Amino acid sequence: MSGSKRIYIQEVATRDGFQNEAQFVDTDAKIALIDRLSACGYAKIEVTSFTSPKAIPALRDAEAVMHGIARHDGVVYTVLVPNINGAERALSCGVNEVNLVMSVSESHNRTNLRMSREQSFAQLRDVISVVKQTNVAINVSLSTAMGCPMEGDIAQAEVLDWMQRFADLGVHGVTLCDTTGMAFPSQVGALCAAATKRFSTLELTLHFHNTRGMALANTLAALDAGIDRFDASLGGLGGCPYAPGATGNVCTEELVHMLELDGYDTRVDLTALLSASALLPSLIGHDVPSQLLKAGQRLDLHAIPCASSDGLPEQRAFAEKA
Ligand code: COA
Ligand code: ZN
Repeated sequence: MSGSKRIYIQEVATRDGFQNEAQFVDTDAKIALIDRLSACGYAKIEVTSFTSPKAIPALRDAEAVMHGIARHDGVVYTVLVPNINGAERALSCGVNEVNLVMSVSESHNRTNLRMSREQSFAQLRDVISVVKQTNVAINVSLSTAMGCPMEGDIAQAEVLDWMQRFADLGVHGVTLCDTTGMAFPSQVGALCAAATKRFSTLELTLHFHNTRGMALANTLAALDAGIDRFDASLGGLGGCPYAPGATGNVCTEELVHMLELDGYDTRVDLTALLSASALLPSLIGHDVPSQLLKAGQRLDLHAIPCASSDGLPEQRAFAEKA
């Protein structure tokens, strides 16, 4: 039990989730879903991304979505931004935060953003100097921070170096992204401990994908190292279209379910989340990874199966006959 420590849950389904969907989710449906999620108690919602519509056609309606949603007090509305063009578009929509993105691995940066890491850094440095003249917060998401599907292991020192370069530019927060689910708990614990020690004033977020079933285990390791902010995706949607083998983020309802059982205070309404998650298949045209949506919450009890004529529960009687 960990008392009632506050944990900040940041929803990314309409960005990390929808960016990876083949079926275009209508703008009105995106807005309705975000409005519904805004009432669920999240600390932050990553609404969309201001990327090239050729690169991410699923989010080509970013302006319309940002303008269409109703803002709730207490929710930070953030958007992913890869370059200056994206930052200008985002600022024109009254976002609370821009979430700048680049990769720690050179190969993934080139695949995803079509430029070198140094070119990305130079563009993001320009973006930061523009955004700093406004009251919009700046977060930087470092992709492939715990492994790259093309390069393999990523040295912890390299992750800390990129964090340092952005910290030196005065960003508010940094997100460490396990883009293709390569992280494992002891690695996460060591990285998070080193990051919290060195960057005590940065708001740190961990962004796990469940590609190899380790996202909740990695979350526990990050919590142990003092992390209190997590990205998560409703239904377990998610994945970078430019990272080979990428699949869904840690599932928000499963994350909240686990954290609340362990006594953490997420402020998220799990029942409302589950009913929102149940809508996803109709929006994207397929089932979602969420186990919790299928199984129900831990104490959603079942009726005792009816007894058959010999007094045994029906299923057992059937198995014994078979
Ligand atoms: N928003 C809208 N359009 C953009 C844009 C942005 N942020 N950045 C570039 N464009 C447009 C340019 O205007 C240009 O349009 P044109 O072909 O009609 O002239 C075209 O995209 C190419 O521009 P260029 O600067 O050469 O970019 P690029 O083709 O090298 O692409 C990125 C670079 C970063 C814009 C692109 O790779 C991208 O958006 N990647 C997003 C990756 C992503 O979101 N991955 C998943 C999340 S991690
Ligand atoms: Zn992601």
